[in-house]
Amino acid sequence: MANIKLTDLALRDAHQSLFATRMVTADMLPICDKLDKVGYFALEAWGGATFDTAMRFLNEDPWDRLRKLKSALPNTPIMMLLRGQNLLGYRHYADDVVTKFVEAAAKNGVGIFRIFDALNDPRNFKTAIEAAKKTGKHIQAAISYATTPFHTREKYVELAKEYEKIGANSLAIKDMAGLLKPYEAYELVKALKKAISIPIEIHSHSTTGMSVAALAKAAEAGAEILDTVISPLAMGTSHSPTETMVEIFKGTEYDTGLDTNLLLEIAAYFREIKKNYKKFESGFLGADTRILVSQVPGGMLSNMEGQLKEQGALDKLDDVLKEIPLVQKDFGYPSLVTPTSQIVGIQAVLNVLQGRYVNLTAESKDLLAGKYGACPAPKNPALVKKALEALKLEKEVTYRPADDIPPEFEKLEAEVKKLLGTDTPSVEDVLSYAMFPKIAPDFFKKRSQGPVVFKPEPDAPSAPAPAGKNEAAKYVVNVNGANYNVVVAPAGTVITAGVAAGAAPAPEAAAGVPSGGGTVVPAPVAGTIIRYAVDEGGNVAAGETVIIIESMKMELEIKATAGGKVHFLVSAGAKVTARQPVAEIG
Ligand code: CO
Repeated sequence: MANIKLTDLALRDAHQSLFATRMVTADMLPICDKLDKVGYFALEAWGGATFDTAMRFLNEDPWDRLRKLKSALPNTPIMMLLRGQNLLGYRHYADDVVTKFVEAAAKNGVGIFRIFDALNDPRNFKTAIEAAKKTGKHIQAAISYATTPFHTREKYVELAKEYEKIGANSLAIKDMAGLLKPYEAYELVKALKKAISIPIEIHSHSTTGMSVAALAKAAEAGAEILDTVISPLAMGTSHSPTETMVEIFKGTEYDTGLDTNLLLEIAAYFREIKKNYKKFESGFLGADTRILVSQVPGGMLSNMEGQLKEQGALDKLDDVLKEIPLVQKDFGYPSLVTPTSQIVGIQAVLNVLQGRYVNLTAESKDLLAGKYGACPAPKNPALVKKALEALKLEKEVTYRPADDIPPEFEKLEAEVKKLLGTDTPSVEDVLSYAMFPKIAPDFFKKRSQGPVVFKPEPDAPSAPAPAGKNEAAKYVVNVNGANYNVVVAPAGTVITAGVAAGAAPAPEAAAGVPSGGGTVVPAPVAGTIIRYAVDEGGNVAAGETVIIIESMKMELEIKATAGGKVHFLVSAGAKVTARQPVAEIG
């Protein structure tokens, strides 16, 4: 075995893990020329959470990013991370949307499709692999790695054979939480090498501090490709440093042959760029060994922090980390990778904030009902029953979940035509809308304003800039060496969450004030009102759903706290804070 190949993750997973996926294209392009000269196996640069974040926070067209990267990287394949039948969203899509998406991604610049499924259910790969085959691009099937009693070496080998059989050109072990122990990596790769003949790539996060050793042992066992990140964006919840791995193998039979001086020039660039994103940085930068028990992957950890912050409950992080493995077990041991990481994570947050399973999110119900595919282990039967009842289903879904979904591209296209006022919307716009129907319309409206620009933040403010009338000013306050972001605004100003990136949308409806005559229904969590579940002025019984709210990317029902006539205090689209009154009953 010789010449280990490397895939650098700087443009996707690294910033997704370290600073909430906020890197803008403008910070990527200036270094592409050098990145393209290194001789990487691939640059992972698209997919995962980047698509969502680009539209949601950066006012950037993700397709435009892909095209720009492709023309700036003529010699290095761009790898994208695709969640099988989920694509980049949080639900299963119809086969026609999956096929169109893969075609468009290939056309716009993706050279390698890394496809995975959170449940390791090969039925969820079928359509994406078939579509990718037609494009002639490289297909990499990724196994979501976990260390539950139901994720065994034998099971992984079985899956690898299956993926090779259905047409994968290479196989990845996707270790989201840094749980792959070096000696297990060796044994696993040895076992895989005996069973399959396609190349093996190892993706192992640094969260627990084991990744450098795991990659080295995997190489020894015969893995041909390793995932690394240029050093300023390495370690913590990210990955092993590229230069370090190059140096470890230098002069051995595994020598990567990469130019360390060129890598150092690239590192110098990212060291500067990183300063732009200080405010988004994950608090977990060293080795976090709690994860050896909780199994919470890097991206999920920084997401959990952000979401608890939004709920004003950051002090509950430890409780949530303890709750996650319990929910994972109840849900049949899905591995904690998107979207199941989010589904399990947010259910754990709700369990901690509101009591265990007082509220199941819509996504939790679907997962329990089998709508995401087969979970590795049996689920908590009481919860399955609760989910089936709520969904009015007689029994769990046991066929390929997407078989249930009728073609939907044309319907989505018609909606985009209306939205954009054109008869010829681009396929890419339709797909953006398909992925994120709540985000895309807003993004389309603001797209022409161009992407947000991030600048380095000073460590401490010199003189506060004067705020305009009724405008909130943002300051960084340094207390005992720690920086705190604070917002200062005149009394009566509405301060919206998410002040960090770009313009936070103002609440579309002014908060209504309860008359005082009825029972107030508070929002259990901060979020965005999606729709009313009953008509204004209608009668509801206690416990009946009155409002659907989107919180932390999950859908949640808000229930009536009493019976009577309902009067809504917020409109659809309004952003609400935790405990804000949303309706009054009586
Ligand atoms: Co990753």
